[in-house]
Amino acid sequence: MKRIAILASGSGSNAEKIMEYFQDSTKVEIALVASNKADAFVLSRAKKFEVPTFTFSKKELEEGILLEKLQTEKIDWVILAGFLLKIPVDLIRAFPEHMVNIHPALLPNYGGKGMYGSHVHEAVKAAGDTETGITIHLVNEHYDEGKIIFQAATTVSTDDTPETIAAKVHALEHRYFPEVIGSLV
Ligand code: GRF
Repeated sequence: MKRIAILASGSGSNAEKIMEYFQDSTKVEIALVASNKADAFVLSRAKKFEVPTFTFSKKELEEGILLEKLQTEKIDWVILAGFLLKIPVDLIRAFPEHMVNIHPALLPNYGGKGMYGSHVHEAVKAAGDTETGITIHLVNEHYDEGKIIFQAATTVSTDDTPETIAAKVHALEHRYFPEVIGSLV
């Protein structure tokens, strides 16, 4: 069994799709959902799937508390699904090529600092782009610059708003993220 931890700061709709996908797996166990927000909805979703949860503060993250927990839990892969804090370098180094992030745009476009959540979709709309998509990539010490594993695109029309773009991107994430994880681990 490969043991996966999901880190998420918010709603966790991707986390839910991942937990659903691996529910009956004999190869992969979602062993932990960890969040820096004690009231994040992702924690309720984890309880529904009887996946253990762990919460920590920004300070605790920086002090290595999460790394300790991941090591105690013998986690093999770390999946970032809407995790908004900067990951300490020690944590990244503890999971070389074994930490995966999903970004709601076609990297290298719309990556880097400040490019998260609705900011990404607003930027795509403002630029008048005709397509956007998702990028699943390995995490290294340089923000949004790890090796790209998978991308999928969707069209953007002039009628689209940042909200409708977000919905299209979420649909791609839900469709592909679990199976891309399955093909990796
Ligand atoms: C996703 O759009 C993901 O690409 C980004 O954060 C969002 C998380 O959404 N990194 P959810 O919490 O899984 O619904």
